[in-house]
Formats: sequence, C-alpha cells, structure tokens
Amino acid sequence: MIYLKTPEEIETMRAATDLVSRTLGEVARWIEPGVTTRKLDTIAREFITDNGGKPACLGYGGFPGTLCIEVNETVVHGFPTDYQLRDGDIVGIDTVVEKDGFCGDSCYTFAVGEISPEKLALCRTTRESLYKGIEAARPGARIGDIANAVQTYCEKRGYSLVREMCGHGIGRKMHESPEVPNYGRRGIGPRLAEGMCICIEPMVNMGSRNIVIERDGWTCRTRDGKPSAHYEHTIAITGGETLVMTTFDYIHQAISDRFI
Ligand code: MF3
Ligand code: CO
Repeated sequence: MIYLKTPEEIETMRAATDLVSRTLGEVARWIEPGVTTRKLDTIAREFITDNGGKPACLGYGGFPGTLCIEVNETVVHGFPTDYQLRDGDIVGIDTVVEKDGFCGDSCYTFAVGEISPEKLALCRTTRESLYKGIEAARPGARIGDIANAVQTYCEKRGYSLVREMCGHGIGRKMHESPEVPNYGRRGIGPRLAEGMCICIEPMVNMGSRNIVIERDGWTCRTRDGKPSAHYEHTIAITGGETLVMTTFDYIHQAISDRFI
C-alpha cells in the first residue's frame, strides 16, 4: 500500500529532509585520511539530536549506527567501526533522519584524499545516474521509467547495477511501498501519483553486479571486491511537479575544494 501525502505532510517532511542534508554537510567536513568511521557516526548522531531529530537507522532492525558506512567495495549497510579512512578510499555515507514524525533519507559517496581516476569516474557516473532517475520521475511516469533511466545511463558506461537492494517509498516510516529498483523496463510498475514520496538510490559497481552479505547480516559488499558507489535523494510528487527534497548543497558548501 502506497501512502500518498498531502501537501501539508510534505511540507512537514521538509524538516527531516533538510536535517538529513545538513547532517551529510556536517559529516563532510570531517572526512579525511585517519578519521575513524565511528567518529563520523558520533558527529552525525550528535548533530541530528542537537537539531531536534532522531537518528532513524540507529537500532533499526538492530543496526548499530547512525550512519551506514560504505568504504570502497562495501555497497550498503556497513557498520561504523575503528577503521581509519585512508587516502584513496571512497566512502558512502547513508543515513536517515526522523523529525516531526517524518523521515528523510540521503546518501553521498565521498573521496578520501586523492582517489584514482577510475573511482572518480564511478562516483560521477553514479551521481549523474541519480539525476537521470530524478528526471525520469515526472508526475504520471512509472517506477520502471526511473529504474530504466538509471540502468541505461550506468550500463552504457560499463558499470553494473546491484539488484538485490532498491530505493523505496518514504514517509512516516523510512521504508514504505513502492520499491524503486535501479534496473528494469520502462512503462512498468506503479505510476508516480500526486503525494508520492520516494527515495532513488543507485548502487553502482565497477565490476560485476554480484554482492555478498557478511555474517553480521548487514554489511553488503561486491563479490569481486571491486568498488561500488551510492548516492540517494528523497523526492516528492507534489503540486504537479517533482520536488527534490534532499540536497547535496550543504556538502558542496562544506568541501567545495574536495567535491567530486
Ligand atoms: N538508506 C538506507 C536504506 O534505505 C538506510 C538504511 S538504515 C539501516 O536502506 F538501518 F537499515 F541500515
Ligand atoms: Co534509502
């Protein structure tokens, strides 16, 4: 069942989507070689609670962090640990904030120090594919149109799309219907109706699309050990338009010199 939101509810949801965007902007300032992912997690948790929000991932199904940490070959749902980020790593930071009864979800993959041209290209293509997906998410379009736009853009450039994990509806809960896959045919799936709020989140691999889940039950890695990138926005269909509710602007402001 897809919960359609009223314009007022979408307005209320802005508190959460704005705070999740600002949280990624705050975390961005701390990303450098040597910092532990646990430190980033603490910074995010304090920032969210200081600003009247709730870290929605923390404790969700037993997840142990505020942030999902995705270093290099980690696709999604990695734990914050004592691992110190290294020059040349890419690290996806994915998090969900709850505020005023609604959730906002966003993810950005950062460069740590100097990264290889191959990793840079992977990150750029993944971020661009997110915007291709958003462009396809016009009112009245179908979920398959988004999925196909993301898939086509990435596969043309030689990358592969993770299939086991999807974007999703969002609202009072972080995961609502419908699923928003990153592969598929145009013209299939639910229509984007007024009041729909969804997360589009391409997870793009440099090598094969295959993944493995660690024995911790969460950490998802590429099977071939090659890097994976991940970007995510929360969007809403409202007033006959597509509203991108999260933004990477705070990240850009925080690290304009290191923005990839
Ligand atoms: N954006 C991630 C997702 O949609 C957030 C997961 S939070 C976790 O899967 F707690 F489930 F890890
Ligand atoms: Co999500």
